[in-house]
Amino acid sequence: MSTVITNIATLVTNDPSLGDGPLGPIHDAAVVIDGDRVVWTGESRKAPATDNRVDAGGRAVVPGFVDSHSHLVFAGDRTEEFNARMSGRGYTAGGIRTTVAATRAASDEDLERNLTHYLGEALRQGTTTFETKSGYGLTVEDEARALRIAARHTDEVTYLGAHIVAPEHADDPAAYVALVTGEMLDACAPHARWIDVFCEKGAFDGDQARAILTAGMAKGLHPRVHANQLTYGPGVQLAVELDAASADHCTHLTDADVAALASGNTVATLLPGAEFSTRAQWPDARRLLDAGVTVALSTDCNPGSSFTSSVPFCIALAVRDMGMTPDEAVWSATAGGAAALRREDIGRLTVGARADLTLLDAPSHVHLAYRPGVPLVTGVWRGGVREV
Ligand code: NIG
Ligand code: FE
Repeated sequence: MSTVITNIATLVTNDPSLGDGPLGPIHDAAVVIDGDRVVWTGESRKAPATDNRVDAGGRAVVPGFVDSHSHLVFAGDRTEEFNARMSGRGYTAGGIRTTVAATRAASDEDLERNLTHYLGEALRQGTTTFETKSGYGLTVEDEARALRIAARHTDEVTYLGAHIVAPEHADDPAAYVALVTGEMLDACAPHARWIDVFCEKGAFDGDQARAILTAGMAKGLHPRVHANQLTYGPGVQLAVELDAASADHCTHLTDADVAALASGNTVATLLPGAEFSTRAQWPDARRLLDAGVTVALSTDCNPGSSFTSSVPFCIALAVRDMGMTPDEAVWSATAGGAAALRREDIGRLTVGARADLTLLDAPSHVHLAYRPGVPLVTGVWRGGVREV
């Protein structure tokens, strides 16, 4: 069945050949969906007749958001830790242990219910593709179960056994790295596409991170790295060296880190929800963009450092505080996210792309930053099916 959406004030295609600048906007546009694909875009008055017609009423349509970084398989929350932080305490990787304990104690059903709850939130805010990670189990069984549950909901599943050293191995990190690269990897690799490591003070150093990522790559997983979030460190350059799809956070970067990102294919994924919720310094998106680095924007949704499922919120933060223009932020949350997942079929609205569309109750995508905190998403099509 085909559907035409007409009377779109601004259609963001992310195809620069179709309009002005990287977003390739078409004004007074229409888009035709057939099955799960986009089959036509152009001026509304030239739209072909189809089975179904939807009038966008002079609103804007953007590609469904691609949230390329989240941690959604967990139980419990960390309200008290957040409260303490807002009274002046700092954020450390140590809080992850609280969620590990709650996640281990939860049933499969609880974990899946929690996951679908946050996925529903994200969908209602325009997210049509999401990546999510393990990392709150940290035993062979608990990591494999997190990935199995995640894989029921997305193809973009990441093995993060190397989130922190599991509490029971705290005295012997080398033994934990051996587990993560051995038995745990064997159990997890069949359920995941990606391998990630938290390369940070209090988590894993550069040598450990390299060992973990290369072991995963030998099993067919593709690398991505939690890099340079809390401190300067080797994560970003390791990510580029291993041709990781993405270096995530990128909050503390030297000039050499920026140059490395600019020279390779690794996307810098910025996660402003984390800086918001930990009162940390903002990543400098302007510096990265000016150096020619591909930037993605994602939520990092997790109960510790960034408990938001809202890509529009992250777009608003990135524009207000990270030096991005609204066009750049919208591109990064759609095409940038697709690049961070090395996907060609999403993050754009051009013929042949997956029909993932987000309809805004606004005439332009700029309103995502201009009207922060306002629930602008009023329609979502995922794979050609209207879900919101
Ligand atoms: O991306 N940095 C490491 N992991 C998460 C935080 C996880 C947590 O605090 O529970 C992050 O910010
Ligand atoms: Fe994260």
